[in-house]
Amino acid sequence: MIEFKATSSKLAYALSRQEERANLILPVFSGEVLKGQAQAADELTGGLISRRMEEDGFDPKIKQCLVIDSDLSIAGLNKIILVGLGQRSKLTLSGLRRALALAFGESRDTARSERVVFPLVDVDLRGLTVEQFAEVVAEYACLLDYEINHKKTRQFNDEQPQAHLKSVTVLCSQWTLSAAKRGIKLGQLLGEATNRARDLVNEPSDVMTPKKLSGIARKIAADSGGLITCKVYGVREMKKMGMGGVLAVNAGSLNSACFIDLTYTPVSGATDEVIGLVGKGITFDSGGLGIKDGDGMRDMKDDMGGAAAVLCTMALLPVLKPKISVRAVVAASENLVDARSMRPGDVLKTMSGLTVEVQHTDAEGRLTLADALHYVQEKGGATRVIDLATLTGAVEDALGDCITGVFGNDQSFTREFLSAARQAGEEMHEFPLLEDYRENNKSTMADLTNDGEGPGHIVAAWFLREFVKEGVSWIHADIAATSFRRHEQGVDPEGGTGVGVRTLVRFLQQYA
Ligand code: BES
Ligand code: MN
Ligand code: ZN
Repeated sequence: MIEFKATSSKLAYALSRQEERANLILPVFSGEVLKGQAQAADELTGGLISRRMEEDGFDPKIKQCLVIDSDLSIAGLNKIILVGLGQRSKLTLSGLRRALALAFGESRDTARSERVVFPLVDVDLRGLTVEQFAEVVAEYACLLDYEINHKKTRQFNDEQPQAHLKSVTVLCSQWTLSAAKRGIKLGQLLGEATNRARDLVNEPSDVMTPKKLSGIARKIAADSGGLITCKVYGVREMKKMGMGGVLAVNAGSLNSACFIDLTYTPVSGATDEVIGLVGKGITFDSGGLGIKDGDGMRDMKDDMGGAAAVLCTMALLPVLKPKISVRAVVAASENLVDARSMRPGDVLKTMSGLTVEVQHTDAEGRLTLADALHYVQEKGGATRVIDLATLTGAVEDALGDCITGVFGNDQSFTREFLSAARQAGEEMHEFPLLEDYRENNKSTMADLTNDGEGPGHIVAAWFLREFVKEGVSWIHADIAATSFRRHEQGVDPEGGTGVGVRTLVRFLQQYA
């Protein structure tokens, strides 16, 4: 774990106090002379920074770093990482985030020191407080420090083990010190919770079984100081509750499905308004009898990315202490191939009473979510529901793998959610739930088919909406393309990204 510090001492002093030589990350604007903290650093190096910027033709445009590693003989200083912020007047929060990702990545891979000193330079960003700046720095330091939970026992020839941070020292003024400290605290919580979700997603599916997920949920409750309770239902109880969706999906698996129900109650007592969080928890999706091909199945341990985000968000609530009741549910199951597997043409009855004709066994997510959504409203009393699900390949065709698709039935709720996402630095885009597409889910044999024609992400969202009660506000985030990556990109590592945690936490923070 990284140790974060905030101090109002001068750069030279902060460097000299480092236990080992530290990398100095210095954000610089283009088209202006160095000032403030940047000027101080330049003076400290005898003008080396400005000289090197000049010589190397470094234009501090966004997405550019310059590592200065020669001619440095300053106590406690390893290397200087200049990172361009572009023109001062054009800087945005997402631009700042991108620059931070680049700088911490550079510090990890090129400049390689276990210590970083980061002056909170005056970025003049409208609406960005020192607290938020410090928060993003801490969050990105954590996120870029993430190392996949691999099982490697050796290094290949020239492969270097990943460098890790021991400490990050944030420099600020005396009067912003306490704000910076608050920001650091939240940023670290967000970063670590996201990293935890990444670990859950990366864990192979023979380890991360429904039972294992339930164990994690139980542990979250056990560690909550009594603020969270956990109930896990087995197959027998799910049968009693009539959860035909989850049970059909689970039919072909040796590992039994588990239905996880976490309840967070604020210290001041339960509230009438209840936020329901639902995470898709398919621990492996082979496609069932309508089996996927090799490439399509390769990363399908990630089909519980929604569950991971929801669980890791819940784990933060006892710390953040929002004054609202939160109920989180996950219907955890595998989707496998077996003589007992559900078959195309089967008709099942969901907990809500609606019947579904299974026309594609690979559209299993919506079957499990149907029961989870119904449960969280009916038994959990949820009045506003957010579901996160790796639901469709179609969302990737529409938005690529950098943007999460969002759907909702209540404009103001959706706006709130999207603004939380923007604040959190998670790219999301809303799709219309056009009434015309609703009937694409009509079936001859049942109330609904799980394989309606048309734009897959929208038709799937319409399917879920059929299980949302009148008067309940609901959001569906399709994270199929954003929850897992085959290559590192920006702040996302290869593998699980932990998408959703930061947005959910921001959203719930408004109640803190
Ligand atoms: N889990 C998949 C969706 C998915 C695809 C997640 C790619 C992550 C990456 C989901 O269960 C699925 O198979 N969806 C099908 C639905 C179709 C059969 C109606 C899809 O999108 O192809
Ligand atoms: Mn599937
Ligand atoms: Zn799936």
